[in-house]
Amino acid sequence: MATVVIDTDPGTDDAIALIMALNSPELEIKGLTTVGGNARLTHTTANALRLLDRLGHPEIPVAAGASRPLRGAYEYGYGFHGSGGLTIALRPVDSGPHPLRAAEFIIDAGSTYGPDLTLIALGPLTNVAHALQRQPVLASQLHKIIVMGGALEGGNVTPYAEFNIYNDPTAANVVFSSGVPTTMIGLDVCRQVAFDRNKTDWSDGETVGEELAAEIVSAWFEFQPDQPIYDLCDPLAMAAVVEPGILTYTQAEVVVATSGPRSGETRATTGARSVKVATGVDVNRAHATVLARLKTPEA
Ligand code: RIB
Ligand code: CA
Repeated sequence: MATVVIDTDPGTDDAIALIMALNSPELEIKGLTTVGGNARLTHTTANALRLLDRLGHPEIPVAAGASRPLRGAYEYGYGFHGSGGLTIALRPVDSGPHPLRAAEFIIDAGSTYGPDLTLIALGPLTNVAHALQRQPVLASQLHKIIVMGGALEGGNVTPYAEFNIYNDPTAANVVFSSGVPTTMIGLDVCRQVAFDRNKTDWSDGETVGEELAAEIVSAWFEFQPDQPIYDLCDPLAMAAVVEPGILTYTQAEVVVATSGPRSGETRATTGARSVKVATGVDVNRAHATVLARLKTPEA
């Protein structure tokens, strides 16, 4: 069993990763913390609350976090994820976010669950950085941090920078230099795992998780008529949490460029350092894990 807090900016692929997490009995989800990124914080927080409600888990707390990065402003991903941050409209909920802000929620979880706690970060790393800066002892309490972000080669915002890191490179440096055992799952591997527009038989929609995932992805393909594939970045990160063997890694020190045309570039120096960087993926196993975890187990 892994005790987890998921930091997220839903976001269509975050939504799929959350479906997988809720369907994974290996994970004990203590809460979600939301951050701006794919959409402004009000949207990502509302989406997190509505996703949990739709998936039958309104009891899981959602703590709202950063509406802007440590420096500058987020460049939102509405053009990719849709006007509200999702390609579908979910039923509004009456409940609101947790009284604690995200960084305080993470700090509280660190002191409560300590060496058992894994943070899974699916958006810009602002909340995690705030928590580490406000409570330095957190770095010695956490079991590990899983980061969806970065790349050894390439980018999806600029030729050098991946979206989550690009949107808060300063926060990424705080996290990668914290000394917490950290796994970086980036574009090098997640670009190899995708849904194909022409292959929609991956979900028979029998369970609530599969039904919602199919709704989101088919709406995304309608929203993006020129896109042949839908990258499964956050879902791959979640798959690697429940099936670590689907990825291969190298140990490295990761330093992030924070200015200039290469801002957000993740520069890895291999060697015995605290960041495990994903370098390879068993694509078939990864796909199978994503599909399997969309299925909501019988109650
Ligand atoms: O680059 C992919 C990442 O950026 C994913 O987390 C996606 O949700 C966006 O936030
Ligand atoms: Ca995300």
